[in-house]
Amino acid sequence: MSPPVKFRIGLCGLGTVGQGVWKHFAAKRAELESRLGVKLEIARVAVRDRRKRRGVNIPADRICGDAIAVATDPNLDIICELIGGTTLARDVTLAALACGKVVVSANKALICAHGAEIFETARRHGGHFLFEASVAGGIPLIKALREGLVANRFPLIYGILNGTCNYILTKMEEQDAPYTAVLGEAKRLGYAEADESLDVQGWDTAHKAAVLTFLAHGTWVKPEQMIVEGIDRITPEDFKNAAALGYGIKLLAVIARDFTTGELSVRVHPTLLPESHVVAKVSGVFNAVSVQGDVAGTTLYIGRGAGQDATASAVISDLVDAVGLLKNDRRAFITARKGSAPARPERACRLAPPEHIRGRYYLRLTVRDEPGVLAQIATAMADQQVSIASVIQRAQEPAGEASLVLTTHQSDERAIRATLARLARLRCLLGKPLLLRIGDFSE
Ligand SMILES: NC(=O)c1ccc[n+]([C@@H]2O[C@H](COP(=O)([O-])OP(=O)(O)OC[C@H]3O[C@@H](n4cnc5c(N)ncnc54)[C@H](OP(=O)(O)O)[C@@H]3O)[C@@H](O)[C@H]2O)c1
Repeated sequence: MSPPVKFRIGLCGLGTVGQGVWKHFAAKRAELESRLGVKLEIARVAVRDRRKRRGVNIPADRICGDAIAVATDPNLDIICELIGGTTLARDVTLAALACGKVVVSANKALICAHGAEIFETARRHGGHFLFEASVAGGIPLIKALREGLVANRFPLIYGILNGTCNYILTKMEEQDAPYTAVLGEAKRLGYAEADESLDVQGWDTAHKAAVLTFLAHGTWVKPEQMIVEGIDRITPEDFKNAAALGYGIKLLAVIARDFTTGELSVRVHPTLLPESHVVAKVSGVFNAVSVQGDVAGTTLYIGRGAGQDATASAVISDLVDAVGLLKNDRRAFITARKGSAPARPERACRLAPPEHIRGRYYLRLTVRDEPGVLAQIATAMADQQVSIASVIQRAQEPAGEASLVLTTHQSDERAIRATLARLARLRCLLGKPLLLRIGDFSE
């Protein structure tokens, strides 16, 4: 009997995720080898600083400082790009794919910025690009969309895709604490980056929404083409107002497709969800994604969306798929079509104009506490055909100011934006209004 084939893996990046992959791969290696009937080895590792102390012990002769040399090493079959960013990570990915290797990535920013080029390079050179860890960490969401739900079209996908924001919103609500205080705590606990802007302004969620949109609809939507709003202007008062109306607040990505018109909308924004909604109950660093399929109906996925262990779990799942691709030509052909090319052929799909993106809205305004203010605001809204459903008025400090919270009946993005522009011209308005969407999703 011939000895089992050996596949060699190169790790580019040994930070949070890379160390997790090394640790769990080492622990599960024998089991994986036995299940796959092959030998596996992480043979080379590239880092920026070779002298840095790490939480894992790696033989010194396997570590180098040249990620491109690892990516193009002819002795390596699979390259894990775990560097992050869109510059060196792009070079490493394209170089490995051009050598016909399988690249495994957790890098949603890279996929969002250069996905089309990456998939085209993979196709041209017979390489493969796998990216389960790029969205929703330990939740096998990409496998679910691509494989388990392959018979479906997806009119609606929505959910919490950023654990940092969900942690901040959860703590603000639980502790009645302001955003800045909770953000500081999240940084101390390592749940938020030193530069939190990518997370709290919604861009990280937008990158993940772009990846999911590509998988579900075979088209790339750039974050600049989406509505992207973050959580940094939400206050403890908003949670109280939302609770009074029967809602919680979550940062959601919403990917909606109308298969009759072909229109697609992709958006990221804080959303009022009914308190009884299962996604509203998902707290802390967890992610939750609801996928509506036209055949399967709604399926829901909840789990750890980031962190060393959950992300390593997803990377290792891709490593196993990579072995499957390399091991068996016939299977490789089938999976290659899933792994390297758009999951679905690009159908006639165009972005919905703002007037076709409909919904209900929550508006918090700080106004002068004087007679006639509500009438002025109601007139400004009526001029744009936005009709008010409810009003909460609270006196607030300093004296002479009041907080006015309005919810609307069904309206649309064009009308609500025109309303905001109109309101901004009113003398009675103090400061910029806060606009939140109300999520009318059935479970
Ligand atoms: N952290 C998470 O929970 C998580 C979850 C899902 C996806 N991701 C994605 O996974 C990827 C990695 O994230 P991470 O949190 O592990 O990042 P990280 O902790 O910052 O690690 C980055 C690694 O890349 C190495 N590196 C940087 N520049 C390099 C260079 N010029 N040459 C060689 N190596 C270089 C660093 O080396 P040194 O160690 O020597 O500095 C470090 O080991 C990112 O795309 C991220 O978006 C992360």
